[in-house]
Amino acid sequence: AGSGTVKKRETNFVKVMKEQGRRVIVFYGSQTGTAEGYAARIAKECSQRFGVNCMTADMELYDLTYLDQVPKDHLVIFVLATYGEGDPTDNAMEFWDLVTEEEPTFSASAEDAPLHNLNFVMFGLGNKTYEHYNEVSRKVTKCLTKLGAHLVGESGEGDDDGSLEEDYLTWKETLWPFFCATLGVDESSAKSGPREPIYSVQELLEYEKDQVYFGELSERPKKHAKVVFDAKRPFIAPVTSRELFSEGGERNCLHVEIDISGTNLSYNTGDHVAMWPTNNEIEVNRLASVLGLTDKLDAVVTINAIDPTASKKYPFPVPTTYRSIFRYYLEICAPISRQILSSFVEFAPTEESKSNLIQLATDKDAYRLHVTESCRNLAQVLEFVTGNDTRTGLFSSVPFDLIVENVSRMQPRFYSISSSAKESPNVISATVVVLSYQPTANPHHIVHGVNSTFLYRIQMQQQQELISSAVPTYNLSGPRQLYLGSDGLCQKVPVHVRHSQFKLPRNSTVPIIMVGPGTGVAPFRAFIRERAFEKDKGKQTGPTLLFYGSRHESQDFLYAQEWPELFSKLGDESRLITAFSRDQPEKIYVQHRLQQEGRLVWDLLQKGGYIYVCGDAKNMARDVNQSFINCAIEFGGMTDTKAHDYVKGLRTTGRYQEDIWS
Ligand code: 2AM
Repeated sequence: AGSGTVKKRETNFVKVMKEQGRRVIVFYGSQTGTAEGYAARIAKECSQRFGVNCMTADMELYDLTYLDQVPKDHLVIFVLATYGEGDPTDNAMEFWDLVTEEEPTFSASAEDAPLHNLNFVMFGLGNKTYEHYNEVSRKVTKCLTKLGAHLVGESGEGDDDGSLEEDYLTWKETLWPFFCATLGVDESSAKSGPREPIYSVQELLEYEKDQVYFGELSERPKKHAKVVFDAKRPFIAPVTSRELFSEGGERNCLHVEIDISGTNLSYNTGDHVAMWPTNNEIEVNRLASVLGLTDKLDAVVTINAIDPTASKKYPFPVPTTYRSIFRYYLEICAPISRQILSSFVEFAPTEESKSNLIQLATDKDAYRLHVTESCRNLAQVLEFVTGNDTRTGLFSSVPFDLIVENVSRMQPRFYSISSSAKESPNVISATVVVLSYQPTANPHHIVHGVNSTFLYRIQMQQQQELISSAVPTYNLSGPRQLYLGSDGLCQKVPVHVRHSQFKLPRNSTVPIIMVGPGTGVAPFRAFIRERAFEKDKGKQTGPTLLFYGSRHESQDFLYAQEWPELFSKLGDESRLITAFSRDQPEKIYVQHRLQQEGRLVWDLLQKGGYIYVCGDAKNMARDVNQSFINCAIEFGGMTDTKAHDYVKGLRTTGRYQEDIWS
């Protein structure tokens, strides 16, 4: 966009469907690409198994007020993720606003049941760790039904915390009879013929070198076009990284700084920053070796969608090289899905590896043990089924389009921003734990967090530390290359900002109570720095409490050196209250401290105080919620029910905000 000559795209999807002869459209509300991946899989099955002409579509690219014009014998499938506090994904926001309105207006605006012709299918993705499990798909189903639409089959729900893939596989089999009945398709005629590829891959012998993409995430802008950086076009920013625990012990934690000066990127305190990772060279080379591509890694290829259901013409910027695809464009380190394993069976090099693959693809328990719980990615599974025969090229007959089709696109990783936008508008900071663990199901194997390990490598390089062989190597050149800033060499990482609702009260004198153990402290460093900054500028600031917890005061106390000065600026009513869980025989957690400080906490709440909780969604956030309830009982003299309602009330009025993850 931006050039002014681009033809305006058609947003009436019903018209597009008619023109292209499609009977099914799969809309996805996707934030990190998972829902998008499932949408593509459903579409493929519709068209290849049942011969129904189907398309996938990013919701934000179409005008959903045309839902009332979808013919009766057509079908709209929604694949909708719920995220955070029961929120829709960014690309589903407009649709959400439309259907949740009291009286939504559709294109023809019929009165009572404007959607009485609409047949729809629903699959929701959520996470059971959160209170608002699948709230978006549930609410949309309710609203659409109220508007007269008919739900086809059962609405499906997948739990991203454990069983998403199995939930999906089970649900979709229950869907097909209803699907066929609605579309008048003969279910028994379902095909299971040879695979029809979605992508075509061509190796190019002739190409212009400067047209080749080496990890850029969007097409190169036209000359003189004004570039707006966002999720679709991340900014490749200079990044520096330093270690936060000098006495680290078992773990490493990084303070990462991202320079966004000179761009139109901006952020607000409390937002998230997205970073697009690079895969490590060990996994890049492993996959290349299994597929027999080691000698061809730098061959230039172009890839385009040939399947009519595909929502995008290209899976990622092309032409590119196999190496760049493995390094930057595909999630080659993620566990591979069960359904997808079956497509590799026909390419197995031996009978034994074939039967092993079939077992993993069909036996849920074997799959769970050897793939999910063992954290094996595609290449590792392919090695595993051959009995760890690491000769190269054992799977060289696998067509490359199968890899592009079945391995997810690289997704950004999100972090709570730990800098204040007022104090530091041009440098975003994030607080990142370097993830590495040994799965119990596969103890010889070390899993390294993709992005955090990359940032750790950058840190080592910047400090010119000896690089331990226990940490995988990364390529630190290419378009994310050395940047000659005033300090010499620097790495670059593609980034964008995601705005959030997690915000300080507008009035800086309002008391705030923050609870953030571990890296959950990140946004609170930002909040506190912001209040201290405003105080410096002569503004009044209210009582500011931070409950922080970590294992040992001497080892993993994040930003220990920064707090004294910040709190002394904020004055007597502001305090840092710590819980070091392993510095004494019994565990002490932030929620214990909250209880101990109950009177003060209650006082601040009476004065209109706001509560903020950040960190682990599973146990911490729930326990902390309970501590506030206890507080209302003990110091507010409330009954249990009243106290629950009181805390719930704080949430609905925006005085209890969470930024939690699982
Ligand atoms: P632990 O690892 O000693 O159990 C940051 O990770 C801190 O949060 C650590 O001190 C960790 O303690 C603590 N933590 C673990 N589980 C928690 C929970 N359910 N609630 C609050 N803090 C918890």
